[in-house]
Amino acid sequence: MHLTRLRLRSFRNYGRLEAEFGPGFHVLLGGNAQGKTNLLEAIYLLATLRSFRGVGGAQMVRHGDKGYFVGGQVLGQGAHAMRMYWSPSERRLSLDGQPVRKLTDYLGTLRAVVFCTEDLQLVKGPGTRRRRFLDLLLAQTDAGYLPLLQRYTRALRSRNLVLKARLVDEALLESFTRDVVGVGTQLTQLRRELVPRFSPLVRLAYRRIAHGAEELRVEYRPSVKQDFAVELAQARGRERTYRTTLVGPHRDELQLLLDDRPAVQYGSEGQKRTLAIALKTAQAEYVGGRHGTPPVLLIDDVMGELDARRRQGLLPLLERAHQASGQVFMTCTEVNWPEELGSRLQRWEVKAGTIEADRLVR
Ligand SMILES: Nc1ncnc2c1ncn2[C@@H]1O[C@H](COP(=O)(O)OP(=O)(O)OP(=O)(O)O)[C@@H](O)[C@H]1O
Ligand SMILES: [Mg+2]
Repeated sequence: MHLTRLRLRSFRNYGRLEAEFGPGFHVLLGGNAQGKTNLLEAIYLLATLRSFRGVGGAQMVRHGDKGYFVGGQVLGQGAHAMRMYWSPSERRLSLDGQPVRKLTDYLGTLRAVVFCTEDLQLVKGPGTRRRRFLDLLLAQTDAGYLPLLQRYTRALRSRNLVLKARLVDEALLESFTRDVVGVGTQLTQLRRELVPRFSPLVRLAYRRIAHGAEELRVEYRPSVKQDFAVELAQARGRERTYRTTLVGPHRDELQLLLDDRPAVQYGSEGQKRTLAIALKTAQAEYVGGRHGTPPVLLIDDVMGELDARRRQGLLPLLERAHQASGQVFMTCTEVNWPEELGSRLQRWEVKAGTIEADRLVR
């Protein structure tokens, strides 16, 4: 799968951009604040409808403009045209010229995995970050997951609203409880099945990048231990005090352990960073394995954070993407990628919201 064309209008510091890309490695080279990360953000947005910077549409509209447009063509199993327009008053999304009715019809057309500095929050940040990571991984590999998650979120919100009322409507609570338990049990089950398949990949990636003596373990700690309905009923007393749903997949945790100790408390900065990259590497490998074709890799500044030895650890992932005619976009302010990639790179110069192919190959 690869992105063959990208078109931007009024997106961040790009007034207008038209670019064509082949499969393989693309290096986006440029000084600070030229538009390297913005370009990756646009590709990721096209793939997932989210910014990896965790911001909403308004911030991505070029200062002074009304709305942004991002369009792309993807070559995977067949060719597809994706288009999105966002303004405060209007949103449009189309696939192959048809308005998108169900998000699940659209998502999956372009699969992408991003490596960026914010990934450190996967290790350091609150559990929400790791749950969102699990959710994305499941959404990218199981077509039924996203609708289930949406149903759970809606049911949970309704249930919490009932709990917040001064006088709790017990019949209404009962009905939302049934929804939350039914859908939540399925979510927990899918996460429970995923983690044992996924965690060996993280462990391997960590070992490859860190060359470390320490052993990494990734463990799923579901909020629901056995029976959601029973555990929720047991929490009912406490719920009266807290006025919110205290048990369920929205409280799950993905524990990251280095030599059996929580990485967040005991890991060094370098270990945490390596762990974040290992999680993303494993995501790319897992998603690629499930679909038989690697996702597009978007690598922002990561090479600069790793020493030469750790950079080498990323090579197998990049090599595999290359062999399978995948596509990699990598941003750099200077030439610092592993020597081995040398001649197979397409270099682009990014400057003040423009990009230009640089035919000079090292
Ligand atoms: N909505 C917007 N409208 C116009 N310009 C914006 C908008 N959002 C961000 N920018 C500007 O876009 C420029 C490029 O940002 P970007 O994050 O892509 O830089 P970069 O090339 O990745 O730099 P660095 O090497 O520092 O990471 C910055 O000057 C930023 O202020
Ligand atoms: Mg940047």
